Amino acid sequence: MTERWGAPVAAGGGRLHRLDDLPGFAAFSADGTVAGVVTYLIEGDVCELVSIDAVVQGMGVGTALLEAACDAAAAAGCRCVRLITTNDNVDALRFYHRRGFALTELRPDAVDESRRMKPQIPLVGAYGIPIRDELVLVRELP
Ligand SMILES: CC(C)(COP(=O)(O)OP(=O)(O)OC[C@H]1O[C@@H](n2cnc3c(N)ncnc32)[C@H](O)[C@@H]1OP(=O)(O)O)[C@@H](O)C(=O)NCCC(=O)NCCS
Repeated sequence: MTERWGAPVAAGGGRLHRLDDLPGFAAFSADGTVAGVVTYLIEGDVCELVSIDAVVQGMGVGTALLEAACDAAAAAGCRCVRLITTNDNVDALRFYHRRGFALTELRPDAVDESRRMKPQIPLVGAYGIPIRDELVLVRELP
């Protein structure tokens, strides 16, 4: 998590989460190395997906992790899974939209506050896009 995210913490929505304190799932390659990790937090009937990371991308690891977290949320009685991503992460937006999530909120400049809590958040993200805004996506559970 430190290698991939700069620190084992995630900042978003005005909160700081320690990823290694959260429940989650890990995916492993055949040689036993970690292929990806998802973490989540259940509060009431809402499951917040706090982090999702596939070490090798485009091989189905992210989908498997996402579905494992959604299944755990449904089993715990949650009515939806919610997550926050940032305006630069257009690949993740495609990924979530293809998997039943819909945009519910745009928070312009919200990353400024997250960066105060986690200074490792870079100024520029994917495709050279400045990281500025938070986007909230929700998937309703059956
Ligand atoms: C977003 C993420 C978790 C998706 O995981 P993944 O293992 O790459 O996802 P999958 O392989 O299950 O599916 C990715 C989709 O992109 C396609 N794809 C093809 N090549 C790809 C590539 N090089 N990179 C990413 N996706 C690719 C897949 O075919 C699939 O397409 P589909 O939606 O039409 O089915 C992963 O890309 C990731 O870890 N990104 C960096 C961390 C991150 O941004 N996390 C989200 C923070 S909100």
